[in-house]
Amino acid sequence: MSTRKGIILAGGSGTRLYPITMGISKQLLPVYDKPMIYYPLSVLMLSGIREIAVITTPQDQDQFRRTLGDGSQWGVSFQYIEQPRPEGLAQAYLLAEEFLAGAPSAMVLGDNIFFGHGLPEQLAAADARATGGSVFGYRVADPERYGVVDFGPDSKVRRIVEKPAVAPSPYAVTGLYFLDGSAPVRARAVRPSARGELEIVDLLGSYLRDGLLSVEQMGRGYAWLDTGTHGSLLDAGNFVRTLSERQGMQVGCPEEIAFGQGWIDAAALRARAALFSKTAYGAYLLRLIPTAADDRSP
Ligand code: DAU
Repeated sequence: MSTRKGIILAGGSGTRLYPITMGISKQLLPVYDKPMIYYPLSVLMLSGIREIAVITTPQDQDQFRRTLGDGSQWGVSFQYIEQPRPEGLAQAYLLAEEFLAGAPSAMVLGDNIFFGHGLPEQLAAADARATGGSVFGYRVADPERYGVVDFGPDSKVRRIVEKPAVAPSPYAVTGLYFLDGSAPVRARAVRPSARGELEIVDLLGSYLRDGLLSVEQMGRGYAWLDTGTHGSLLDAGNFVRTLSERQGMQVGCPEEIAFGQGWIDAAALRARAALFSKTAYGAYLLRLIPTAADDRSP
């Protein structure tokens, strides 16, 4: 089992989704049939991570506690940490320093949704790198909205730049960061940017300068979905609905992952199914429980 700890960064003001996010945190909005945060949580669980810090604004923490609980229903544990003001992604490592206690981490942004064949293997490869960091580049049509990878003439990563006016490549850096235990120390050396934030690209720059950052490509077979605007949020929901109804399989289902990992048993799964008995999600959980007939050898 991984000793890596997880961080879900789920603070921020959500102003780009006003007026919806005036009364509820963005990361709790529905993406089809479940709260947005289920999807990044699933990514951490697929990575084998069971100790997870959930960083939220002070005023939204109660909503997250009600939605996620203590994690025991999924065989994981949550520690809730407040971020008083949205002062940058790299600040998460300062806020979580005590929680991490020197351990390597995987941080995922609470609004990032990943889907793709081979994702567990790619996560396992990143987890296996004990020192340094791994981030994931994904080709997008509008890279200037993100952190962007700048490749040198030798195709080596030269820099990662945040929201450049002119993007040096079409490769955005997704909101999933596997960093070693030195991240909090490195984050302490990051100074606020012109917009007053501790930028994740500056923290990644520290790893890059030391030759310790690996930028992995997530190929075109992956979906890395945007939830940043009203339209893209709806599109993400429709994507999940299309896929899950076509396949009859869930996307981003923590119960399924926990059961698959052996972190919860059939009784725990049945209890969750009972809680959701009025939904298709609940019926799906029940179908995951192997029956005596399944056990019979062919
Ligand atoms: O989604 C990937 C992108 O996320 C990366 O490519 C960029 O390098 C990275 O800076 C970030 O860009 P965004 O424009 O999405 O950053 P934003 O300020 O919108 O914050 C991303 C999420 O993190 C958002 O859901 C709110 C949350 N957040 C943000 C800040 C600045 C926090 O919880 N605390 C914060 O201090």
